[in-house]
Amino acid sequence: MDINVVKLKILVTGASGLVGHQLVKDLSSSSDVYSCYNKSKPEFGNPTKMDLLNHNMISDVLLETKPDVVIHLGAMTGVDLCEKEQSNAFEINSKATKIIAEKCKELNSFLIYVSTDYVFDGFSNMYKENDTSNPISTYGKSKLDGEKMVKEFSSDWCIARTSTPFGIHPTKKSFPIWIIENVKQKKQVNIVTDQITSPTYVPNLCEMLKEISEKNINGIIHTSGATSISRYRMAELIFEKFNLDITLLNKISSDKMNWIAKRPKNSTLDTSLANSILDKKPQSIEISLNQFADEINSNDINNNYSEN
Ligand SMILES: NC(=O)c1ccc[n+]([C@@H]2O[C@H](COP(=O)([O-])OP(=O)(O)OC[C@H]3O[C@@H](n4cnc5c(N)ncnc54)[C@H](OP(=O)(O)O)[C@@H]3O)[C@@H](O)[C@H]2O)c1
Repeated sequence: MDINVVKLKILVTGASGLVGHQLVKDLSSSSDVYSCYNKSKPEFGNPTKMDLLNHNMISDVLLETKPDVVIHLGAMTGVDLCEKEQSNAFEINSKATKIIAEKCKELNSFLIYVSTDYVFDGFSNMYKENDTSNPISTYGKSKLDGEKMVKEFSSDWCIARTSTPFGIHPTKKSFPIWIIENVKQKKQVNIVTDQITSPTYVPNLCEMLKEISEKNINGIIHTSGATSISRYRMAELIFEKFNLDITLLNKISSDKMNWIAKRPKNSTLDTSLANSILDKKPQSIEISLNQFADEINSNDINNNYSEN
């Protein structure tokens, strides 16, 4: 019997980014994917130019493609850059999101907005989905504004907050890659002891986003890693895992960093909701680092990294 399986049509913004690159790759086998970009053409899916600063272009692309699902990752993510270019941060992270939300409502598309732990001030921790948000940086404020646009202007939506994503990307160096590369070049790395987050392995985030899109899960959901850990402790685990020279790892406190924007001290996300409703669960940092090491070994990146 000939069974025609109708593929979901999914439009992904920020498809060339750290998360987008992996997400589009993972979705492409089961869905028709429009991979939207501005400057860097994505490797996977159907590359589709969409400048988030150009409202007409956003509307035109959405009206032409009529996606079943929009996964909106595109954002100005540089926390210090957002502080320097506040108006651009709000244009990209909030105003563009409003246009996307309005068009999704018009087209009956399901909108998944990927947001951040930086919507919280970090004075508490283990933040639940409905805890009071109080961002302390322009990045956090502009992303929270984006969340408000989603709630106000779309009707079928999910806000998936994540934290400190790490993984492999052709050009972007996430935290573990940055450490490994510096240490292999015998450079000292100074890592803050007083910033605690929920690091998220990008393939784990992508499988949760895929499930949310397939099951049409509505509301706010924390889709981060399951472990609350300081940057420094995570660095120690990376040093152990990759057998790096521990004498090159130094403790530093965040007030010694030349950061422009304030960062939350402890923006750990409580992932119990995702853990209870999703088949793909938020992973511990140990499992994620094991998978990350396997991924590095199987990619054989420059033969540069060796697992302990
Ligand atoms: N990175 C984090 O630490 C973190 C933490 C929590 C949540 N998040 C959220 O997770 C999502 C994905 O983050 P990520 O780390 O994958 O980001 P990323 O690597 O910085 O990528 C950002 C993406 O946004 C696109 N973009 C930026 N300006 C644009 C514009 N004017 N028009 C169209 N596209 C534009 C970029 O495309 P071009 O290169 O083509 O311009 C790029 O693909 C974001 O929404 C972010 O807020 C990130």
